[in-house]
Amino acid sequence: MKKITVTDMQAMKDEGRKISMLTAYDCYIARILDACSIEIILVGDSVGNVVLGLDNTLPVTVADMVHHVKAVVRGSTQALVVADMPFMSYQICPEEAKRNAGILIKEGGAEAVKVEGGENAEEVIKALSDIDIPVMGHIGLTPQSIHRMGGYKVQGREEHQRQKLLADAVAVERAGAFSIVLEAVPAGLAQEITRSLKIPTIGIGAGVHCDGQVLVINDLLGLAGKFRPKFVKQYVQLEDIIKQAVKQFMDEVQTEKFPADEHSF
Ligand code: KIV
Repeated sequence: MKKITVTDMQAMKDEGRKISMLTAYDCYIARILDACSIEIILVGDSVGNVVLGLDNTLPVTVADMVHHVKAVVRGSTQALVVADMPFMSYQICPEEAKRNAGILIKEGGAEAVKVEGGENAEEVIKALSDIDIPVMGHIGLTPQSIHRMGGYKVQGREEHQRQKLLADAVAVERAGAFSIVLEAVPAGLAQEITRSLKIPTIGIGAGVHCDGQVLVINDLLGLAGKFRPKFVKQYVQLEDIIKQAVKQFMDEVQTEKFPADEHSF
């Protein structure tokens, strides 16, 4: 089984092969994704929303990320493991960004980090790339900018926003990122960015023309509650299946059907 690296991602774009990326936050799910030969596992700061019960990603810390990255790395043998840099772990200055990215790589075992931002993140992406920490960019709807954006909204519909996102994408590539996430941007704009960049684009709510696609694993599995953005495709409804199993267990405890003889000593 060949280990997937950042250079494979570039080769996939060059050869027109699509990249699949999913999030994972624990060892068990990571093992399943890895067994499916997924190319990239992202330990997203979405861990805040879908695992830690937070309202947004802002409170997630480097320590939270290291905890989850370690678990995911234990479950991955093949996939490229990318760790999100949480809010305020890279915004203060490039030195702080290097220190925190170093922790995610050295302690967590991640092989690359993801940073939100375009032109405003150029200096940080360059600083990390210059010390050989591979960086995935992330533009469009950047959840760490929720307060500036006034909520989770599609970005790039207005002409001035479109121009800004094109400039952001170029800045991320120029700074040395190996790939870039495009979140919640019109499909036509994502296609234009994908054509104009050499590095692979990975879309979430950005149409079919990106070089790859990413989803949050809980959204795909139906384990994310009622809120479902338009771009999410739910492939299975695990919440209902889990509830059914739990109810059956409780019922069997009441009726002494469980444990049966085969579960007893
Ligand atoms: O944190 C996350 O899960 C992400 C993906 C949605 C790209 O950033």
